[in-house]
Amino acid sequence: MKEQIIARLRESCPWQDSLLWFDSIDSTNTRARELARLGAAHGTVLIADHQTGGRGRMGRSFHSPSGVGIYMSAILRPACKPQEIMHLTCAAAVAMCDAVENAAGFRPGIKWTNDLVFGQRKIAGVLTELGFDSRGNVDFAVVGIGINCCQQEGDFPEEIRNIAGSLSSVSGQVIDRAKVAAAMMDALYRMDQSLLSGKEAMLHTYRHDCITLGKAVSLVRGEEVRHGTALDIDDDGALLVRLPDGIIETVNSGEVSVRGMYGYV
Ligand code: BTN
Repeated sequence: MKEQIIARLRESCPWQDSLLWFDSIDSTNTRARELARLGAAHGTVLIADHQTGGRGRMGRSFHSPSGVGIYMSAILRPACKPQEIMHLTCAAAVAMCDAVENAAGFRPGIKWTNDLVFGQRKIAGVLTELGFDSRGNVDFAVVGIGINCCQQEGDFPEEIRNIAGSLSSVSGQVIDRAKVAAAMMDALYRMDQSLLSGKEAMLHTYRHDCITLGKAVSLVRGEEVRHGTALDIDDDGALLVRLPDGIIETVNSGEVSVRGMYGYV
């Protein structure tokens, strides 16, 4: 599989030299963090066929069976302060829309902040994690992405069957996973090259791709549920929500789960 991925990369992507393939792993993000702490280079990419402990945002798990998805983590060393890359998850989500468009011929939407959706179905998720040096600067960032590629509707576990989809199930196509993985790497490489300089243009695209904007949303924090309207994305990638009393709340991705009023999207 590693050779097939490399064969499908654009020639301009140098990250192929530090691509690590795993038949099975607990979590590519967990392993990437370990490798980053041990000094792994910027642009090290881990891809797995199967994860036994795939992780999502807010402590959730990410279902990662063998043979049907791509589970990838890239180690970045952007040499900046954390405040300068608050938009990293948004940038990765836009990059993954580009990757899906290139590999499968359709562009998904983004459910703020980190879910790729098509129709009412979640087809991919992004999990970014940072490590810091002793001065509080970014030592490394791990950008993790899981894309459901080949599952058919009945393949998903009962508890996510109503919300999960794959590139194949939503488009009716046969999906070449190596092509998807190569498109993901290419897109992440391009994202990294313009991470700081291209922030404004990226946020413009994010706002365009984001299906949450303009919608009635529920903000879920533990037991507390509040309702409002999603207005905009600020320059850090936070969601601006107007509450019924007119107050506009800035919602950061780590804090709350945002759902549509009548379901997942
Ligand atoms: C989410 O849905 O909240 C994010 C899911 C992110 C899943 C990917 S799969 C590759 C990488 N390794 C993980 O354990 N998680 C990310």
